[in-house]
Amino acid sequence: DALRPGERRLAGRHIVVTAGPTHEPIDTVRYIANRSSGRQGFAIARALAAQGARVTLVAGPVALATPAGVARIDVETALQMRDAVNAAMPADCAVMVAAVADWRSADPATNKLKKDIGAPDLTLVANPDILAELAVHPNRPQLLIGFAAETDRVVEHAVAKRQRKQADWIVANDVSGDVMGGEENAVHLVTPEGVETWARARKDAIARRLADRIADALG
Ligand code: CTP
Ligand code: CA
Repeated sequence: DALRPGERRLAGRHIVVTAGPTHEPIDTVRYIANRSSGRQGFAIARALAAQGARVTLVAGPVALATPAGVARIDVETALQMRDAVNAAMPADCAVMVAAVADWRSADPATNKLKKDIGAPDLTLVANPDILAELAVHPNRPQLLIGFAAETDRVVEHAVAKRQRKQADWIVANDVSGDVMGGEENAVHLVTPEGVETWARARKDAIARRLADRIADALG
């Protein structure tokens, strides 16, 4: 669907976007992370702002410039991301694009571990699920959108994720190719009405299409 530039279909709306990885410290110089570049999330923040939304972008550690007109809050860890998302509420919509680390060290060292102590026994604990928590938050956004990065049985996993996390939509991301860090993305949009498969496209084109759909849904 062609964008109508200048129409600002999201004027007056507040939208929170999470993007990038999180870093979970092992000690003061080492961390657990993942391959998220933040590009898709930043493109979505930019596209929403271009439609006139007030955008709060909660960003993990990434090497990307802040899109014009977007309020950016930088965080490192999943716990910090959860706090920043909750502090940004209320919002009309939240788009949770971040690849949040599923686990963190139970007991990060407060100095640099030396290798002569031998390989450390890392005990990992689960991070909070920011999306699932927001779904039952008293200030739940009217439209709550999650991403699902999958390498196999993409749609099946995404449909299950939508239900489990009580999200309205899931954008299912096929990350089996070179998508993570790349310029393009291959997605399916999973809604209560069903599953749409979008043609593989540049991340900025996917972002504009999603922003247009969000504007349709918020009315
Ligand atoms: N998410 C989140 N907080 C977490 C983990 C995930 O908010 N601790 C969000 C992501 O931002 C994304 C969605 O949940 O919008 C799905 O993330 P994903 O990693 O695909 O799903 P998980 O439930 O973590 O399951 P798994 O990694 O086992 O596939
Ligand atoms: Ca995960």
